[in-house]
Amino acid sequence: MQAEIREAVTSDVESIYRLLAPYSLENIILERSRKDISNSIDKFLVAVHNSAIIGVVSYYDYGPMLKEVRSLAVKKGLGGRGAGSELVRELLSTLHGKFPGAKVFVLTYSPAFFIRLGFVEVARETLPEKIWKDCDHCKNRDNCGETALVFDRGTGK
Ligand SMILES: CC(C)(COP(=O)(O)OP(=O)(O)OC[C@H]1O[C@@H](n2cnc3c(N)ncnc32)[C@H](O)[C@@H]1OP(=O)(O)O)[C@@H](O)C(=O)NCCC(=O)NCCS
Repeated sequence: MQAEIREAVTSDVESIYRLLAPYSLENIILERSRKDISNSIDKFLVAVHNSAIIGVVSYYDYGPMLKEVRSLAVKKGLGGRGAGSELVRELLSTLHGKFPGAKVFVLTYSPAFFIRLGFVEVARETLPEKIWKDCDHCKNRDNCGETALVFDRGTGK
């Protein structure tokens, strides 16, 4: 399956919302409202196949030198065909183009997926305190199994 990766536009908001919603219900990814998606649509990339959005990724901006990969998901039933990897690679390329030298990190329940793409696990304490603000609203805050990883150009496949 060859998906086209492109920047998201406002008319994609509903499709992005519907793609993410089942995963946020499962607490795998952070909940995103339509308004929240719409307000940060310039930070989303989408994977398109047969004119339909089948994958999405976004980033959160902690300033010019720190970015977080967020809201990565591939439509249920279409995983394992490369779209997730393509989305992350394209996002990294976009971020490194716009913000040379920026640190890109992710908090995830799927560390192995990101390690394949060149991320390395780091101790959570090495990331700045401001990134933990979302934890206050998380249902899993007292029992968090997420792994923190930082992109390292040298280790990707
Ligand atoms: C994680 C996710 C985006 C991966 O997308 P995908 O399109 O299935 O990934 P790819 O097809 O590019 O996978 C590339 C490789 O990683 C592996 N992989 C995929 N998901 C994985 C996971 N969760 N953990 C470990 N390895 C994984 C694939 O098996 C594949 O390996 P292969 O090339 O040896 O077959 C997708 O599974 C998903 O939407 N998961 C639910 C939401 C989620 O967990 N998002 C991440 C939050 S940070």
